[in-house]
Amino acid sequence: MAIDRYAVFGQPIQHSKSPRIHQLFAEQTGQSLSYVAQEVPAETFTDAADAFFSQGGKGLNCTVPLKELAWAYADKNTGRAGLSKAVNTLVLQEDGGILGDNTDGCGLVSDLMLNHGIALSGSRILILGAGGASRGIIAPLCQQTPHSLTIANRSIDKAVNLATEFSDMTTVTGCGFAALAGQQYDLILNATSASLSDQLPPLPENLLAKHGVCYDLAYGNQPTAFVRWGWSQHAAKSLDGLGMLVEQAAEAFFIWRGVRPDTRAVIELLDKSR
Ligand code: ATR
Repeated sequence: MAIDRYAVFGQPIQHSKSPRIHQLFAEQTGQSLSYVAQEVPAETFTDAADAFFSQGGKGLNCTVPLKELAWAYADKNTGRAGLSKAVNTLVLQEDGGILGDNTDGCGLVSDLMLNHGIALSGSRILILGAGGASRGIIAPLCQQTPHSLTIANRSIDKAVNLATEFSDMTTVTGCGFAALAGQQYDLILNATSASLSDQLPPLPENLLAKHGVCYDLAYGNQPTAFVRWGWSQHAAKSLDGLGMLVEQAAEAFFIWRGVRPDTRAVIELLDKSR
């Protein structure tokens, strides 16, 4: 019998760690499957996804710049994917339909709470950025009943509009970076793409509360500019998104295979090899 096929689509994709992560999950859980990375630009996403599923593919991960397209592509989306209007996991269902899900937010929450023991309930959370990466994490963070959630962005209107969309969940507000002066947060999450070019949003001094935590959704072989900023602010922890990457993959693997892999061993392995 042919083995079940999975893939990650995105652009750029050559440095993706997802094939290695899913191969490690498969070995660990005794599952037989293949998982490859395929360079797919936004313009050809629909054709590439159609071809993948019509040739027997079972599930796809979608990353930058395809998550919104994947949300529109799915025949049906889960509640959490609907809230984020972005999909990172597509699943072929028994009736032939394609289900869209988003495992990014729960991957982040698992990494923060389970791997790092960071309490979210009652905490003052700040998200930097108001793009697709921010959109995917707001609802899962709100479900942990923080004291407040603030979204700060370079284009202020995007932060305000995004906050309005989630305003029935918790105290969610949107603002620009200058409006952060004088405020303090227990957890600051960087969801801007500034990290990718080793840049930082303009952040006021004393933004991080005593014992506060910094977390960059991006990751790299070297500490990101935001992780280094966290150190300079004496963060109790200043983390990058490697753990979130492995946790979101584990949730996708669980959706596809019905088995939950041990993420800790995989995070440790990837951390050692950077
Ligand atoms: P993603 O889907 O990865 O979130 P995106 O939708 O392009 O990508 O959003 C990128 C985010 O990073 C936006 O919030 C963007 O701010 P603007 O909305 O004002 O463009 C933010 N961003 C990118 N480069 C930045 C920089 N150098 N400083 C501050 N914010 C930056």
